[in-house]
Order: sequence, then structure tokens, then C-alpha cells
Amino acid sequence: MSSLEVGIVLLMVIAPFQPVQGEELQPPRNITFVSKDYSLFVKWLPPDGSPPGVSYTVLWMESFDVQWKEVQPCRNITGTLCNITCVLQEPSNRYWVRVEAQSGTRAGFISSATETVDYILHVELAPPVLRVKYTRNIFGVNISFTYPFCMKHIFQDLTYDLEIWKAGSKARMKYENMHEPSVDISTTKWPHGKYCLHARTSFFRNGDRKRSNFLAPFCLWLHEEARKWELVALPLLAVLVTGVVMFLLYYKIKSKQVEMPSALDQSTLIRGNCVD
Ligand SMILES: *[C@@H]1O[C@H](CO)[C@@H](O)[C@H](O)[C@H]1NC(C)=O
Ligand SMILES: *[C@@H]1O[C@H](CO)[C@@H](O)[C@H](O)[C@H]1NC(C)=O
Ligand SMILES: *[C@@H]1O[C@H](CO)[C@@H](O)[C@H](O)[C@H]1NC(C)=O
Ligand SMILES: *[C@@H]1O[C@H](CO)[C@@H](O)[C@H](O)[C@H]1NC(C)=O
Repeated sequence: MSSLEVGIVLLMVIAPFQPVQGEELQPPRNITFVSKDYSLFVKWLPPDGSPPGVSYTVLWMESFDVQWKEVQPCRNITGTLCNITCVLQEPSNRYWVRVEAQSGTRAGFISSATETVDYILHVELAPPVLRVKYTRNIFGVNISFTYPFCMKHIFQDLTYDLEIWKAGSKARMKYENMHEPSVDISTTKWPHGKYCLHARTSFFRNGDRKRSNFLAPFCLWLHEEARKWELVALPLLAVLVTGVVMFLLYYKIKSKQVEMPSALDQSTLIRGNCVD
């Protein structure tokens, strides 16, 4: 066989595995944005009929720009999720996000799908972190937020709503749109019982208010010190009462003995005198 013939045979063997025209790599499907705890992700589904070994690259562009930029951590990845939280540097702007699919087996084929995203519109806030201390009838609550540092300029004015209620009661004490990083709440006038509190994050921008969920409530028994005092006081009282009763009994017996002195008592008295 001449080298030309070998080449033709090789082509015939390889040809079926070459990409056929019209069977190009399809674009990624269903690009959506999901947000949780201040993070924003773009996710997608693999292209229809995608061969194994497809990888993806995520790109972004400001809506008035013309140049796509790569999201570096999401370059040539095999997963279908990309964290774009800190990519959108001016979160109040609208961005284009593009997902490109590359196929290793179909070398050179790239297909893409594009969506727009607005961080502020999509972002889900996380509830604030509460640190609670109860001392001397004061509820001391410290509140902090967990947004990523790159969003500091957006979230530095976050506020929170705080609710406190007595377990089993419907009435709620509400503190709304609070800025203070800590609050002290006096409980001196509150009836004894179990009290719960929870808080949510609140964010106001361009006339719209966004709120997080409430975190699971934090509960504790109030007037614990008074209860402890009762716990200590009751046994003490019992001891005192018993003491008094025993003293009275002893006194009664003693006085009866004095009224009716016996020979034995006389002898002890005498012996007592001898010791002196
Ligand atoms: C993908 O998007 C199509 C059309 O928008 C929809 O019919 C389909 O249910 C979506 N699939 C998934 C898994 O979300
Ligand atoms: C992308 O990743 C695949 C395997 O995941 C690798 O074969 C390919 O060389 C990578 N391409 C680039 C441009 O890094
Ligand atoms: C709250 O913060 C203040 C000042 O930063 C601190 O003194 C206090 O101990 C904190 N309280 C709690 C419950 O963490
Ligand atoms: C997403 O990325 C941001 C910025 O790098 C980071 O602060 C955040 O924790 C990430 N979110 C998750 C859920 O990993």
C-alpha cells in the first residue's frame, strides 16, 4: 500500500468518530441564578446530547460594555455551578453572564448561552448573627451580619428587626429597622417565664425593601436568679422551721424534767459540781 492508500484507509476508520456537520455541541441549557446568604451563583444544565468530557467557562460583561471577561475560578470547569458573588463589582448594575461549553472530543467546538443578572434583585439575605447574654434583668443582644467583604459598600447600612415574645403568647415586642450593633432590654417588669427572641436582616434600596428569613428563635427562662433564690430559700426555711420546732420540743421536755426532778438528775448535778 502506498502512503496515500494508508491515509485513505485511516480516514475511513477515523471518519465515523469525527463530528458530523449539524451535530455541533449544543449550548448549555437553563441558565439560572440562585442566591443564598448573600452569595450569587449561576447554574446551568449540560447541553442536549452532550458527549462526556464537556467543560465550561463562565464569562461576564457589564450591560453597556463590549468585552467579555472570564470568571477566573470558573474557567474550564466540569461542574455546572459558579459563584459570581464578588465578580459583579457594582452590584446595582445589570450584567450579562455567558456560559460556554467546550468539548474535548469535539475539539474546537464552543457553544454558549447568555443571561442577564442584577445582584441586588437576586440576592437572598442571611439572617443576622445574634449573641445573647442575660444578666441582672437585662437582655444584652449583639447583632452582626455575615455578608462578604466585597459587598461592604452595599450592605454597610443593613438594619434588622428584632422580636421578643413570651413562649405560648401571641403578643410580640417588636424593634424594627434597628441600626445599633447591640441592644440592652430591661426585663424587670416582665412576668416570670420562658422568653424567645429572633431577628431578621432588612435591606432598603431604591424604594424597595428586602428581608431575610428569621433564624430559629433563641429562648431562655427569665428571672432565673429569682428562681434560684427560691430554690435556695426553700430548703433553708425548712431547716429553720425544723430547728424552731425541735427547740420548742426540747424546751418542753427540759422544763418538764425541771418540774419533776428525779434522783438520777440530782446525782448528775452533784457530779457536775465535783468537776468544778
Ligand atoms: C429547562 O428549561 C425548559 C424551558 O425553559 C423547561 O421546560 C425545563 O423544565 C427546564 N428544565 C429543568 C430541569 O429545569
Ligand atoms: C479544559 O479541561 C479539560 C479537562 O477537564 C482539558 O482536557 C483541557 O485541556 C482544558 N482546556 C484548557 C483550555 O485549559
Ligand atoms: C456585645 O458587645 C459588647 C461590646 O462589643 C461586649 O462588651 C459584650 O460582651 C457583647 N455581648 C455579647 C452577648 O456578646
Ligand atoms: C462565594 O464567593 C464569595 C466571594 O469569594 C465568598 O465570600 C462566599 O463565601 C462564596 N459563597 C459560598 C457559598 O461559597
